[in-house]
Amino acid sequence: MQPQLKSKVRCTDREIGEVTKVIVDPLSREISDIVVSMNGSGERQVPMALVQTVTGDVVQLGKASSEVAALPPFRRDEYLSTHEVEIAHLEDNLHVAPGEVLVPFPELEKNVKRRTFFMNFTHAIGFLIGLPIAFPILRYLMKPMYAPFDNGWLKIGNVGKIKSDDIGVQFKYKKKVKEAYLPEAEIEKNVWILKATPAVLDKVYQGKDMEFRDAAGKSVWTNKKDIPYVAFSGKCPHLGCGYKWRQHKVLGQVFLCPCHLSIYDASGKVLDGPAPRPLDALPIKVSASGDVQIIDMEFKAGTKSQIRII
Ligand code: FES
Repeated sequence: MQPQLKSKVRCTDREIGEVTKVIVDPLSREISDIVVSMNGSGERQVPMALVQTVTGDVVQLGKASSEVAALPPFRRDEYLSTHEVEIAHLEDNLHVAPGEVLVPFPELEKNVKRRTFFMNFTHAIGFLIGLPIAFPILRYLMKPMYAPFDNGWLKIGNVGKIKSDDIGVQFKYKKKVKEAYLPEAEIEKNVWILKATPAVLDKVYQGKDMEFRDAAGKSVWTNKKDIPYVAFSGKCPHLGCGYKWRQHKVLGQVFLCPCHLSIYDASGKVLDGPAPRPLDALPIKVSASGDVQIIDMEFKAGTKSQIRII
């Protein structure tokens, strides 16, 4: 008769617990061990060789309880249940259900840590071998992402076309750009320039010169607070749409972005709408003959602080 799950387990001197699992030899398909729950003091793996008789729901061992208690504790992680691994016909001759039938963990799987190590080691070697080939390609592809900002001056027109103070005038210009691995292309951009009266100028600069820095924090240019020409990036700081100089029924002449109706006054200050910050002023210089140059900068849209991206 086979040991049954939940069978009582008796030693030569007393009852010690019950059968909670059986371990089966996957080759012979015979029960090799039983796992005995020792009345609250852990589980012991008891070889079938110690089983004297199995009658009804009692398993009689031929050892004293102290000897069984001295057996090593049962290690569940060294076994797989038949729910985890399928071995054909393994349970055909067993009568232990419902319950847990275990088979020893395959030796090969026990070495999984070692195998994982060798697998990772192989990957690392492969990576080192491939690096000299991949590096120039990656560098070529990613170079534009890490290229320093272009702080060159662009000539965009002459202030002679500005006829009145505090009026936004659009200046269009073309710029060559290189996007990642795509060929260089020329795109059309624009800025808004106004000749500001002292009151508007004061709102733009708030009494201080405006300094522009590169990514390393080095000063690139300073707009002097008393030079009347102010240039604003042509992109709305909300989400980057192009805006216009328009007549507003209530507010008078304003910069108006049609995308989500952000409204800015002549100094770039937000009067209405979702824009998170004022218009982005750019470095500007005007020659004695009126030629205007700017440094083309772009800033991240949608942020309260000004974060340069181009
Ligand atoms: S992009 Fe200008 S208001 Fe949204």
